[in-house]
This record gives sequence, structure tokens and C-alpha cells, in this order.
Amino acid sequence: MALNIAAVGALCLCVIVSLFAITSAGDPSKFFDWKVTYGDISPLGVRQQGILINGQFPGPDINTITNENLIINVFNGLDEPFLLSWSGVQQRRNSYQDGVFGTTCPIPPGKNFTYKIQVKDQIGSFFYFPSLAFHRAAGAFGGIRVLSQPLIPVPFPKPADDYTVLIGDWYKTNHKDLRNQLDSGKILSFPDGILINGRGPNGTSFNVVKGKTYRLRISNVGLQNSLNFRIQNHKLTLVEVEGKHTIQTTYTSLDLHVGQSYSVLVTADQPDKDYYIVVSSRFTSQVLTTTGILHYSNSKSPVSGPPPAGPTTDINFSLEQARSIRINLTASGPRPNPQGTYHYGLINVTRTIILSNSQGIVNGKQRYAINGVSYVAPDTPLKLADHFKIEGVYRNGSIQDKPTSGPIHLDTSVTQSDFKAFLEIVFQNYENTIQSYHLDGYSFYVVGMDGGQWTPDSRKHYNLHDAIARCTIQVYPKSWTAVYFAPDNVGMWNLRSEFWARQYLGQQFYLRVYATSSVSKYEYPIPKNVLLCGKATGRSLGNVTTA
Ligand SMILES: *[C@@H]1O[C@H](CO)[C@@H](O)[C@H](O)[C@H]1NC(C)=O
Ligand SMILES: *[C@@H]1O[C@H](CO)[C@@H](O)[C@H](O)[C@H]1NC(C)=O
Ligand SMILES: *[C@@H]1O[C@H](CO)[C@@H](O)[C@H](O)[C@H]1NC(C)=O
Ligand SMILES: *[C@@H]1O[C@H](CO)[C@@H](O)[C@H](O)[C@H]1NC(C)=O
Ligand SMILES: *[C@@H]1O[C@H](CO)[C@@H](O)[C@H](O)[C@H]1NC(C)=O
Ligand SMILES: *[C@@H]1O[C@H](CO)[C@@H](O)[C@H](O)[C@H]1NC(C)=O
Ligand SMILES: *[C@@H]1O[C@H](CO)[C@@H](O)[C@H](O)[C@H]1NC(C)=O
Repeated sequence: MALNIAAVGALCLCVIVSLFAITSAGDPSKFFDWKVTYGDISPLGVRQQGILINGQFPGPDINTITNENLIINVFNGLDEPFLLSWSGVQQRRNSYQDGVFGTTCPIPPGKNFTYKIQVKDQIGSFFYFPSLAFHRAAGAFGGIRVLSQPLIPVPFPKPADDYTVLIGDWYKTNHKDLRNQLDSGKILSFPDGILINGRGPNGTSFNVVKGKTYRLRISNVGLQNSLNFRIQNHKLTLVEVEGKHTIQTTYTSLDLHVGQSYSVLVTADQPDKDYYIVVSSRFTSQVLTTTGILHYSNSKSPVSGPPPAGPTTDINFSLEQARSIRINLTASGPRPNPQGTYHYGLINVTRTIILSNSQGIVNGKQRYAINGVSYVAPDTPLKLADHFKIEGVYRNGSIQDKPTSGPIHLDTSVTQSDFKAFLEIVFQNYENTIQSYHLDGYSFYVVGMDGGQWTPDSRKHYNLHDAIARCTIQVYPKSWTAVYFAPDNVGMWNLRSEFWARQYLGQQFYLRVYATSSVSKYEYPIPKNVLLCGKATGRSLGNVTTA
């Protein structure tokens, strides 16, 4: 079956000049009307309740161009509150639109909320997902592709076609039952399978013509498993990672940790037939595998032979591959200047934050923590507490800059940073399981990664030249990963585990980035259509100035 990637038909999509507050005058806008509903799906051969967007599972792709304004009206047809978030789409100066509960009130059942976001400074592949209540286990995710302005070149010839490939582990269990498992204090069970674009084994096929080259935008939208992606007899040339063009390196298989997105080029350079696309779980004793089909237009024979085997528990392979992923300094970024014009390696670090994940039992229930604090969401989004100056919602310093000893405790963990700082974050993983971390609002430079314990001496081996900048990074078992970034995007930003049960049970916190001078200059005003909840209920917006 041919996959119709341009899901545009299902969207109300019209380009007009924007009239909305946050949008920049002159930049075009795209409008989307999305209805979120339950619907029957059976990706693994068993009928279950999925969450659909405009009747689709996965949801429709968002195709956009840098600087474009996206006006996405989301109507919640579920029986529970709902939020969409935009993984990796940076929401410059606009964390109100981030769609996580620390910044945005949930959309009540039967109500709608219109997100207004502008995509800037990033060309590449991302995805959206439902951020609340374990909805991600039921769907409502989809691809986002940000194209460059027509006159700004990308460092490879235009591919013959461009395919979104959403891969992820999957449960046959209803998301409410999975959530109940976690709420009752249990750990998340092992998944039942792996999906490619919402379908199980042999369910998805991608059409190619011999001799042509295709772009595959692959995102791991699953709940917990690192996945390996490969195509029988074909090579994968990595060209882009979460909005940055990479040194073009060719791999036989690629590891994607939860929440990560990669673009690869694949040339149909083999005899006309069908080939297996294989996705399998990494670092698990039981290996889950699924297949899709790469279908040559003149193919006369179906897939044959054993699907190619991939790496399983080997960490070195993955670590070496991660280190080989570097930014192409001379490729152009979103503007005509090359990606390498920002010399992150020459900036002095003003603060080092060392974050260590842990797990334990609190009040008889399973919890996960960062630096000993397991995040508990308050009834009021932190960002709204800030805006309305509501006391008692969170405290600065409720999470320390260094790992602490002692048992895990519950708190609404927030740390703050001046927007003029330059931060080093070291993710130190003392646990024996792989971690995947995502920071909203930013790309960070992945300067180092190694086994064992990080020490200041580890800095001697940092890549201060051409490290990749991205927004989601893995930390291997009993290993560390270090990142650098300038917290120049004012707002309230979620740093979280992408292992969704860990995120749900507390392995996350917020980074509040503030400007000491007049805030309005660095941040968009609160949106006129903001939803209010918790202690912000009934507050008056006063005079909202329009940008
Ligand atoms: C709900 O949708 C309507 C348009 O149908 C829009 O005017 C309104 O602002 C939306 N509500 C919110 C809270 O965004
Ligand atoms: C980096 O980008 C430049 C400019 O587009 C391109 O010519 C070059 O081939 C790329 N280098 C690598 C190693 O990918
Ligand atoms: C996929 O299709 C091939 C060819 O028809 C078949 O041999 C194989 O068993 C199928 N695999 C699964 C898991 O259904
Ligand atoms: C991984 O590589 C390190 C150093 O390169 C080596 O000491 C270690 O034995 C390797 N481990 C495995 C499992 O191959
Ligand atoms: C970084 O710190 C060093 C030593 O204190 C100083 O010489 C240098 O000028 C600083 N660099 C920048 C870019 O501020
Ligand atoms: C918040 O806490 C951090 C770390 O404890 C500290 O560096 C920062 O100065 C504090 N900010 C404010 C505004 O109190
Ligand atoms: C709202 O704007 C009006 C007119 O500019 C001004 O007189 C009034 O003081 C403002 N109110 C608030 C609460 O800022």
C-alpha cells in the first residue's frame, strides 16, 4: 500500500496574513482545525481505543516553513482534559504555547484551544504529541517538518520524495489502564510490539523508484524503548538531527532513543523488488521487532530472506555512533549564515548543573526523580503563577544543582536562570537503564558522552568544535552526557525524561529563564485566549498588549 504522506487533504489549510497578537506582521500563517476523538484502531491485530486527530492515527503531518505562523485550533472531543505539545519546535519567547501542564492549562473535554506558534531558527524534523494523562500511549502524535525558505540552500539535492516515519513501542492495553497501573504504584509493563506509522508487522510500505533518493524523517514517538532502524541491503545517510544539518555519514542502522528525530537519505540502488524495513528494541533482554516494506515501483517479488539482524544489548556500538553524529559547520542554518558561525566552544560556562536520575518508593508507590526530587504538578501552571504573581505554587531552588543523597522526596521542582547565563548540564546516570532527556524551548550542544562518573577532568575530552545541537539526548546506563547551551529563551521550560512512565511519575522539572530587565521585550504577552485553571481561575488578563 502506498503511503500518502501529504496528509494535507484533511486539514483546513489556508495561507493568509495573520491578524493574531503573537504573529509577526508579514509572516504568513497556516490554519489547522483539529478534532481530537477516541476511535477504534487495531495496529497489533487487536481492537483497542486510540486517540485520533481528524479521524487519523497517527495524526496528520504539519508541513511548514521557517517564520511561518501556525494557528492550530484543537477541539477536545475526549472525556478527559487534553494538551498537545510540540517536541523540539522551540516557541521562541512563548512558553505559554508549549502545551505542557507547567505552562498551559488543559483543554477541558468538549472545549477547544487555539495554539499560535511561530516556527523559527530550525529546519528539520520534529513531532507533536499529547502531553497529559498518558494519552501518548493511545496516539494523537504526528510528524512536523520545518522547511527552509526557498532561497536558503540545504546541503543535499532535493530528494524524490519525503516520508515521515514514526516508530515507537506499543501496548495493546488502553491508556487509562496503563495510567491506573502507574497511579496504583506499579512500574510500566513491557510493551506488546512496535509500530511504524501506526501499523504493525508488514503494515506500512514506502514506494520508491529505482535510482532515486528519498528523505525519511524518522522519530521515536514511543513510550520507553530505544529502537534500531535499518533497511535490508540499503544504506542510511544521516543528514539532519532535530533541526540541524549533520556531517553526512552513512550507516547500516541507526539507534533512535525515545523522543529523538533523524532525517536520512536512502537511495533506491538495489535490484527491483521489495525490501524489509526493520525496527527493533535495544538494550532489552526480550527483543521486540517489527517490519515495514520498501517497495520498488517495478518490483515483481515480495520481501524475501531473513530481515537484517541489528544490534541488541551492545552499548559501545550505540555510543560510538552517537559520537559520530556532528554538526556540519558550513551548511546553512535557517538564515543564510552557516550553522558554525555560533562558536559555543568559546563561551565561558557560568553555571554547571549535574542531574542524576533515580527511582524509589515514596508513600508505597513507585516514583522517579532528578537530584532526589520527584516532580509533582501543582493545580496551577507555573507560568500562570508567574504571570499573576500567585504565591505558593513553586519555589526557586526546589531542585539543587548537584545530586543529593537521601531518599526521594516529592516537590514541584523548579530552578531558575538569568537569560544571559551560559549553562553546562551534565546528565549523570547511575542506574543500569538507558535514559533519554528532552528540554523544551532549546537546542543544546552535546559536548561529551562516556561511561562511568563525570568529573571536571571529563571536560578535557569535550567536543568544543562541531558537536551536534539537538533537543533530546540519551544517557547510557552507568554513564554521563554533557550539554552546553545559552538559556536565551525567556520562559518556563520543561526538562523531562522521555521514558514516559518516568516522566509521568516525576522524572522532570522546570527551568525558569528570566530577564532582569523589562520582561515584555523578551517575551510575548499572555495570549488573549489563555485557558485559566487552578489558582488562576477567574483572573483578569487586564490590558493585553499586542505584539
Ligand atoms: C475556540 O475556537 C474558536 C473558533 O472556533 C476561537 O475563536 C476561540 O478563540 C477558541 N478558544 C480558545 C480558548 O482558543
Ligand atoms: C556540509 O555542508 C556543505 C555545504 O552545504 C556541503 O557542501 C558539504 O558536503 C557538507 N559536508 C559534509 C561532510 O556533509
Ligand atoms: C511479511 O511479509 C513476508 C512476505 O509476504 C512474509 O514472508 C512474512 O512472514 C511477513 N512477516 C510478518 C511478520 O507478517
Ligand atoms: C566498549 O569499549 C570499551 C573501550 O573502547 C572497552 O573497554 C569495552 O570492553 C567495550 N565493551 C564492549 C561490551 O564491547
Ligand atoms: C573566558 O574566561 C577567560 C578566563 O577567565 C577569559 O580570559 C576570556 O576572555 C573569557 N572569554 C569570554 C568569551 O568571555
Ligand atoms: C534561583 O536558584 C538558583 C539556584 O539555586 C540561583 O542560581 C538563582 O540565583 C536563583 N534565582 C533567583 C531569582 O532567586
Ligand atoms: C489599561 O489601559 C488603559 C488605557 O491605556 C489605562 O488607562 C489603564 O490604566 C490600563 N489598566 C491596567 C490595569 O493596566
